[in-house]
Amino acid sequence: MINKEERVLVLIKPDAMQKQLAGIIIHDLSQLNIKMIGLKLVSVKKQLAEKHYEDHKEKPFYPDLLKYILGDFHNVNSIIAIAYSGEDAVNKLRDYAGKTNPDEADPSTIRGRYGKVNSKTHNFDNVMHVSDSPENGQREIDIWFSKQELVE
Ligand code: CMP
Repeated sequence: MINKEERVLVLIKPDAMQKQLAGIIIHDLSQLNIKMIGLKLVSVKKQLAEKHYEDHKEKPFYPDLLKYILGDFHNVNSIIAIAYSGEDAVNKLRDYAGKTNPDEADPSTIRGRYGKVNSKTHNFDNVMHVSDSPENGQREIDIWFSKQELVE
């Protein structure tokens, strides 16, 4: 099913920043026929990380999820947040990313190519975040971007 105009948050995560994958990812996403409406480098603070991952609060991996996005596992102090808008944007971006668990991600996807289950931290070093629904896309863009930072 083709879905109408959707908003999606993409985060280029600390493992991808460490591996210098931002250029490749942004280039690839420019081919998906969806519009970039916001982009910034963010030094993630605990409060922002907690808000972004509030739905995962009860999960056993939640504390490590926070450490991961804060850059503690990769010695990285910033990540890239991008807001996209476009028809069927959730499916297009999630197909590009691949499955959440990088061990299960198809090798043709960015997570399949560059992700790994970190044997030291047991974290999913899964390269990028992509909102899982248009509703979460809007919610997450509102967390990461102010209205003035978006080009509509
Ligand atoms: P993300 O798309 O950023 O949103 C939630 C994150 O939780 C997900 O990517 C993974 O990084 C992480 N996650 C989901 N399931 C697991 C799991 N079973 N073990 C560790 N991390 C997980």
